[in-house]
Amino acid sequence: MAFPQTRLRRLRATRALRGLVRETHLHPADFVYPMFVAHGLDRREPIEAMPGINRLSIANAVTEAEQVAGLGIPAVLLFGIPATKDEDGSGAWDDEGVVQLATRAIKEAVPELIVITDLCLCGYTSHGHCGVVRSDGVVDNDATLELLARTAVSQARAGADVVAPSDMMDGRVGTIRAGLDYEGYATTPILAYSAKFASAFYGPFREAAGSTPAFGDRRAYQMDPANAEEALRETALDVDEGADIVMVKPALPYLDVIRRVKDETHMPVAAYNVSGEYAMIKAAAAAGYLDERAAVLETLTSIRRAGADFVITYHAKDAARWLQET
Ligand code: PBG
Repeated sequence: MAFPQTRLRRLRATRALRGLVRETHLHPADFVYPMFVAHGLDRREPIEAMPGINRLSIANAVTEAEQVAGLGIPAVLLFGIPATKDEDGSGAWDDEGVVQLATRAIKEAVPELIVITDLCLCGYTSHGHCGVVRSDGVVDNDATLELLARTAVSQARAGADVVAPSDMMDGRVGTIRAGLDYEGYATTPILAYSAKFASAFYGPFREAAGSTPAFGDRRAYQMDPANAEEALRETALDVDEGADIVMVKPALPYLDVIRRVKDETHMPVAAYNVSGEYAMIKAAAAAGYLDERAAVLETLTSIRRAGADFVITYHAKDAARWLQET
């Protein structure tokens, strides 16, 4: 009689057999590549804490988008670095704003590539908060909603295939949906950052986007890392308001939340493998502490195994190349 250990091992004997019984598969088609677009000519500014990621002027972003598509990655997520910022973040809904210009240029050059636009004010406000700040320093939820809807419409008009609100204001998905429908963009889906935690892992991103809050923090609108039930309530609200895809962010410290959101909402679920998660692997690999390729593929596989249908990740291009080699 075989020992149970032997029985489990029989399926691990060869690579082909392991492949046949593998539960989770990773493919470039599961990735979304985030990009930082900026004004200027031939700009390519490295982001210190995110080796390999740059702020790109539009022509360079188009070249990179072509590469991304060539690797079999179906979508990019665009973040804009505006030339100027103001109290309300008006650059966000400017039809000639940096994200709008980049969206048009990318769609023209690579029409098959899905362009997702991040929809938030924090990159455009002088104070760095995700909404309008009242005189007492509090972010005014309701006053922000209309500006978000206006931004969504401007992005859709520029050709965005999907809009992705990342602000965490209450009621934003419903307001954005109504705004898009009213302006004739009823078919533009909303990818909602539904369970977005107030995380230390956004540090490198804020350096990249220059969006560190000038005062206070984002805990009034982003979620407490201790709460998973609340993540389900936030997600349910977004689904009720019309979200087409829900997101959990960050990914690695919240794998349990990804699993629960997937099981309980039955919605398409995205996970955002954020800047700090990327920085950790890059730094450890640069120091020779771990094998970057193995660590990245294991991480991305685990996020998919937890229940994410796709992963937004700065590793997308490298991972796509590695997957093609295997
Ligand atoms: C903006 C936004 C943030 C990220 C995506 N959209 C940062 C934040 O909330 O401060 C983080 C992405 C990353 O860390 O890679 N609201």
